[in-house]
Order: sequence, then C-alpha cells, then structure tokens
Amino acid sequence: MQNLKINAQRLWDTLMETASFGRTVKGGINRLTLTDDDKEVRDWFRKAAEAAGCTVMIDEVGNMFARRPGRREGLAPLAMGSHLDTQPTGGKFDGVLGVLAALEAVRTLQESGYETNAPIEIVNWTNEEGSRFAPAMLGSGVFAGAFALDYADGRQDRDGNTFADALLRIGYRGAEKAGAQILENAGATIGVVTGVQGMRWYDVTVCGEDAHTGATPMHLRKNALLGAARVIDAVDAIGREFAPEGVATVGLIENRPNSRNVVPGEVFFTIDLRHREDNVLEQMEQRLRLALAAILDPLGLTYQEKQIWGSPAVRFAPELIRCVRRAAEEAGFATRDIVSGAGHDAVYVARIAPTTMIFVPCLKGISHNEAESTSLEECAAGAQVLLNAILEYDRGLA
Ligand code: GLV
Ligand code: MN
Repeated sequence: MQNLKINAQRLWDTLMETASFGRTVKGGINRLTLTDDDKEVRDWFRKAAEAAGCTVMIDEVGNMFARRPGRREGLAPLAMGSHLDTQPTGGKFDGVLGVLAALEAVRTLQESGYETNAPIEIVNWTNEEGSRFAPAMLGSGVFAGAFALDYADGRQDRDGNTFADALLRIGYRGAEKAGAQILENAGATIGVVTGVQGMRWYDVTVCGEDAHTGATPMHLRKNALLGAARVIDAVDAIGREFAPEGVATVGLIENRPNSRNVVPGEVFFTIDLRHREDNVLEQMEQRLRLALAAILDPLGLTYQEKQIWGSPAVRFAPELIRCVRRAAEEAGFATRDIVSGAGHDAVYVARIAPTTMIFVPCLKGISHNEAESTSLEECAAGAQVLLNAILEYDRGLA
C-alpha cells in the first residue's frame, strides 16, 4: 500500500493565490459565476491542471474536466471536484477547497509518478451557488440530465443577462456535450457526508399600489413592502417551527419604486425552504402557501408565488461512504457522519454515478460569509482523505 502525502503548504498557497480573483476588502471572495473574475480563476485552473499532467475538457455549460490518464483507459474516471464560483460575500473555501484539494491530490500523484488504474478527473462545476443565475447546481444538473440545456441557457440574472450570453462572453461555452461522460465517484471537500437535505426555492411578487406617503391615509394604502415584511416574518416562523432540521429564509428582496416618499407598490423576494425529509418539506411548503394568503389578502395585496426549483433529499453511495471512513482512519482522523445542509453538485452527480462528499470543519460553522475560515491543517486533512479515498477505491479496480 502506498502512503502518499499531500503537500499542505502548496494546497494553502493555491487557496490564497486564487482568492485574489474577486477578493473583497473584508478578505472574502466575490466571484459570481461567469463574471470576469470567474474567467480568470478558470484560466488559472486550466493552466495549473495542465501543468499537473491533465488534459482539460470544457462542456457546453462550462463545466471543466481535467483528466489524468489511468493505466486502464477503458475504466470510467474517478472524479473529484466542486466549484470555483462564490456568493457575492463568499468565503475562501466553499467550493474552492473541493477543486483545489482535488488538484493537490493530482499534483501528489503526478510528482510521485503513481499510476492509478482508472483515469482521475478534477471537476469544476459551473454555477453551483445559484446566486447570479437561479437555480443552484445548474452545471451539474445539466450534466446529470436534471435540466435541459435550453433551460440553463435561458436563465437570467437580475439584470436580464442570460446564462448562455454570459458563458459565451467569458469564452467558456465548450464543444463537449454536457453529460457525455460517466463518473464513478465524485468527492468535494472530515465529515463523512451521508446525504444532502431537500431544498425548494420560490420567487414571490407582491403587488399593491404606489401612493403618496404624505397624502394617502393609512387605511387606504396597499403597501406591498408591509405585506412582504409580514411574510418574511412568517417564513422565519416556519423555519423555527420545523427546527432544528427545517430552515427557511428570505435572502433577496427588491422594493419598487424604492423611494422614501412613495408607499411601495411592488416587492419581489425569494424564499428558500430546506429539510432532510421530503415529506416534512412538503408540510413546510403548505404552511408557506397558507401564510401568503392569510397575510396578503387582508392588506388588499395580490401576489404571484412560483416554485422555481426543487431538489429532493439525497442519500450518498454506501460503498463510497465506507471508502471515506477507511481513508480518514488510514490518515488518523476522527470522523462524524453529517447530512449536508447546503446544496452541492454532488446532488445531481449522484443521479448518474455513485457519489459522496468529504467535509472539513469551518470556524463556528460560518459559510456564505467573507469571514469563512478553515485552517491550513484542516484543508490538508480534507485533501489527504480525498487522496486516500480515491486510492482506496482505485485499488479495488485492479
Ligand atoms: C449553495 O451553497 C446552497 O446550499 O444554496
Ligand atoms: Mn455555497
């Protein structure tokens, strides 16, 4: 058995180097998908992967696959990876660590001259975050056949730019059809991740009437923002009712006309509901629908509510979960089973190939925040377990 050690400092240096693409003053990253900063980090990743002996292929939704050949090319590749896009006030590790730990694992194989049986791939999925173009996990979703290409292409950001135009603009519309290859394994970021909770996203527009703040008596107002505020409180109450597994959030709101002396006539906002049991998530949705009507009708407001995305709860492949446990043991790390609260590309990949994930701790659990913090040792532990797990699985293919 080989005892290959990843290079912790080199991994850390790549994390810090790539954090310069979209760095924020608070030390986080603002690298929304398909922006100039995303292009720069993609270009960097392509060069780094090529230098590590990989051939890089880009598919039609911009997913990047860096492949290192195996001894037996007929075997399906073992893929590891995550995403390089971030939230607008994202941290330096969410997603990025999954891609760069995979790069570190490949660099370690390359410098030791280790030949795996199966080809190894590092994957950078497009638009995992879903912050600029909803829904999340769009690239992996097209890859896995959960979304049609046309659907992805037509997604619009809040400024009306389409996903297809943004992809072309940065030069990452690849020739390869998405999902043309088969994955055997995908890992991303030492939590042994047994699954991912179910998620549903909604768009809501509340319509009232623009009116003069000075000249419109209180009883004659149709104040869309007041309605939205009460719904936001009700959404939070739904999350609390179903806690700790249930969570419910309004994260984006646009108030129109957003003028201090106009009673707001229209408000757009988003809702994100999550739970690890799909039937409980369904109950949360029913509570939401009741709350919308009960709150908005008496205020004289109309509304449109649309579920724009749903991702059922996922359970990962038991044989790969065992591989990760053994890999962590081999490296001398304690493990904890965990169901992911966040969505990940692994959700869609799991539909077409055995899949699991590896988690490392982050300080106080803070993520989607510029203060997101994971130590060099923790990043290295994740990368080492990733490499061990891949080798453990690959040895079984001999
Ligand atoms: C992405 O990180 C999500 O969980 O929405
Ligand atoms: Mn994220």
